Amino acid sequence: MTESVSKPVRPRAAVILAAGQGTRMKSPTPKVLHRLAGRTLLDHAIDAAEGLGCERIIVVVGAHSPQVGESARKRLGPDATVIQDPPLGTGHAVLAAKDALADFHGDVVVTYADCPLTTAPVIAPLFDLITNGAHVAVLGFEAQNPTGYGRLILAPGHVLLRIVEEKEADLATKQVKHCNSGVLAADRAVLFDLLANVRNDNAKGEYYLTDVVGLAHERHLSTRAAFAPEASVQGVNAQAELAAAEAVWQQNRRKALMVDGVTMPAPDTVHLAWDTQIAGGAVVEPFVVFGPGVSVASGAVIKAFSHLEGAVVGEGALIGPYARLRPGAEIGAEAHIGNFVEVKKVKVGAGAKANHLSYLGDGSVGEKANIGAGTIFCNYDGFEKFETHVGKGAFIGSNSALVAPVRVGDGAMTGSGSVITKDVEDGALALSRADQTSKAGWATKFRAIKQAQKDKKKDKKA
Ligand code: UD1
Ligand code: MG
Repeated sequence: MTESVSKPVRPRAAVILAAGQGTRMKSPTPKVLHRLAGRTLLDHAIDAAEGLGCERIIVVVGAHSPQVGESARKRLGPDATVIQDPPLGTGHAVLAAKDALADFHGDVVVTYADCPLTTAPVIAPLFDLITNGAHVAVLGFEAQNPTGYGRLILAPGHVLLRIVEEKEADLATKQVKHCNSGVLAADRAVLFDLLANVRNDNAKGEYYLTDVVGLAHERHLSTRAAFAPEASVQGVNAQAELAAAEAVWQQNRRKALMVDGVTMPAPDTVHLAWDTQIAGGAVVEPFVVFGPGVSVASGAVIKAFSHLEGAVVGEGALIGPYARLRPGAEIGAEAHIGNFVEVKKVKVGAGAKANHLSYLGDGSVGEKANIGAGTIFCNYDGFEKFETHVGKGAFIGSNSALVAPVRVGDGAMTGSGSVITKDVEDGALALSRADQTSKAGWATKFRAIKQAQKDKKKDKKA
């Protein structure tokens, strides 16, 4: 979910760095297009920028993965990306956004596209520092193992003297545990002015964004740090780190839902999506998976081993165990969707029941209708999809095949095992199966003959 913070005092813009190669992911999918809670890392970073109230968002992309730029432009518009080619360091990356922000007057926050846990509330303290007079504000954290990070050289009062990168650090500096998260904010003009003076005469031969801090301090500008928990600023560089970030995200979100009154007896087994909405008073049993686009109303119970995606569940509805709700499933209040029932693009009316082994795809089920076990909405002819509509209070006999397009009227019934290809009037019974015939004594005679044959074979062997 996009978390917002209070309205900006001055206009804000974000520069999101995404030009890295992400080679450690070892995947044909660019790193920042991997998903956490069903949403790309890039989108999480954009959510944070939007949550901060940034009116301009520029994503810096590399020449190597055009999909990243496409994804950013699709969400933010055609002017939202700039290319950094070749990548010559984080300072150089921010400079790539200079022209795009030339007409922007306000504060700029620099973030990374691979830090999905760095949400708007995590970054917000930087803007508080700026509001209180800081010219450059940096988000730091205390690292359990600082190796690899830039170290914050602090004076009392969170005054930041400079940032020293790992490769430039002497032994004493390497002992420093205060590290740079990578998130930095400054007035746009100040930032680009400082960046113009950053040089690349360092161990990596790169233009370090972090050098702006020392330069600002030398100019007697106010440079400050705010601190965030380490888990909230962790970047994703490899698949295991993506899974670790996912675990942190899931745990945070489950906790928030429980605070809101959602009952989850085994929260660790429930998998949520970035936008899952569950109202207080709903119950989510163990091993339930939510894909994107689900909302669950109060009093609903999602029973164990159900999978929901793009579905709306009404008040007091019972889902599962082992139910599958696919996009467009709209389950009315007090309706029941039971085990091994799949629902796609069907509006199920209040109090309707489909309790066992059914496929309901494309159409509607009226209020209080009963869908018998094994009912199939035959919605697809190999080329096109068609709709099935079942009226209010209708009763669909078990193992009915409703061949779309077809409508079963209000209060109508279908006989078990029927293949319904024509509309059924309100209140009618539709049957489409061979009449039952019965042959008196046939089974008894059959068994007698078979038993005699078996006995004869046994006698021969003996
Ligand atoms: C950077 C910081 C370091 C901080 C650490 C936190 C600098 C010089 N160092 O180090 O202080 O502790 O992050 O993780 O800023 N990127 C580009 N273009 C480039 C280089 C990088 O877009 O030319 C992007 C990457 O995609 C990545 C981010 O910037 O999202 C950080 O780059 P990375 O190479 O990981 O920086 P670090 O050396 O880890
Ligand atoms: Mg890094």
